[in-house]
Amino acid sequence: MMAAGERHGVAGVDRARLLDCLERLARIGADPAGGVTRLGLSAEEGRARAFLREICREAGLVTWTDAAANLFVTRPDRAAGHPVLLIGSHVDTVVQGGRLDGAYGVVAAIEVLRACTASELRLPYEPVVVAFSNEEGALVQYPFWGSRAMCGLLEGGTRARDRTGRSVRAYLAEGDGDPDRLAEAVWEPGSIAAFLELHIEQGPVLERRGVPIGVVAGIVGRTILEIEVLGQAQHAGTTPMQERRDALVAAAEVVLGVRRIAAGLDVCSTATVGYLEAAPNSTNTVPGTARLTAEVRDTDPLRLARGEAAVRAVCERAGRATGCRVVPRVAMRSRPVETDTAIQQVIAEAADELGLAHLAMPSGAGHDAQIVQAVAPVGMIFVPSTAGVSHAPAEDTPAEALAQGADVLLRTVLRLNHP
Ligand code: GLV
Ligand code: MN
Ligand code: MN
Ligand code: MN
Repeated sequence: MMAAGERHGVAGVDRARLLDCLERLARIGADPAGGVTRLGLSAEEGRARAFLREICREAGLVTWTDAAANLFVTRPDRAAGHPVLLIGSHVDTVVQGGRLDGAYGVVAAIEVLRACTASELRLPYEPVVVAFSNEEGALVQYPFWGSRAMCGLLEGGTRARDRTGRSVRAYLAEGDGDPDRLAEAVWEPGSIAAFLELHIEQGPVLERRGVPIGVVAGIVGRTILEIEVLGQAQHAGTTPMQERRDALVAAAEVVLGVRRIAAGLDVCSTATVGYLEAAPNSTNTVPGTARLTAEVRDTDPLRLARGEAAVRAVCERAGRATGCRVVPRVAMRSRPVETDTAIQQVIAEAADELGLAHLAMPSGAGHDAQIVQAVAPVGMIFVPSTAGVSHAPAEDTPAEALAQGADVLLRTVLRLNHP
């Protein structure tokens, strides 16, 4: 077993600096109610980019932000014309998310770049760090926004809005991006040799099995449906029960029906209603309208499509049962993908080199890597999540495991360059 840092004279990842940078980044968007709320394309996400730019500038690295608000970092002596080995993740969070989802992969990638820079090593594949914007889609309702922009796959994303109707264009114009130059954010076909994303697992598998490194084999696809429920607002005391068209009751039927799609019927692997609002939301009024989201996931495209069809059937039944109109509309689809088998092998060898056990596994969470997979081979490295918790303030990973994951990322970059 080699100590981190012996290969090609490259010093290992600076563990103290990695942890310190994560701590400081977690203060940006720290939510008084707990966790981190640093929503994609918000001012907080912009402040996170500014913080990272400053760290990189102090380290002598070169940064730029594209029209889609993606942040890139390179070595100052970057060799022109070399194919790019892209490494990174995202810096936005969900509402009251954790400090590691996304941020860890970006901060570790910057440390990897610093380690490569310090060694002045010639690298055939030039490492470039990316912090994608708006991966979660928690504010501007379109996940993987930045990676889609870079890959020329924005589709409906150019018309994305927040829940108040404010457009993505307005967010970009006010923030780091430029809505009129989005075409310039698209990278030339073939310019990315590969993409590597280091991420916390966000589930319980690695911790339960006592394995420090996950080698991601595939990533689930996801379909998000926005569901509008149109009932009739009426007086709660005078409207007979059988004459009501209660939008919240219809929504409740949808919530339970969606749950049954995955838990029980096993149509697809997961099915979730995560967002629900009712109006007028008043104690003594029968709810007149409701809006909710349903998302289904699976690694098999056929099962994913069946999951979507099942949500539509649930909506129809809920409408019939309650006299409401229940209208589902697809807000986003992401494909299930497999990661590159050769890169999986290199990650496994990198872990072996460090004496770290590893496990091939699927990802139940979505990742920018699954978007980039359309234009380049991708690999993903997981580290354990404490108690399997993520998208919540309690999200955590032991410091030792964070350092190990970053070292595996560094070794993977070196092995891809010097097989
Ligand atoms: C998005 O990243 C998700 O998996 O929810
Ligand atoms: Mn997430
Ligand atoms: Mn993430
Ligand atoms: Mn994700």
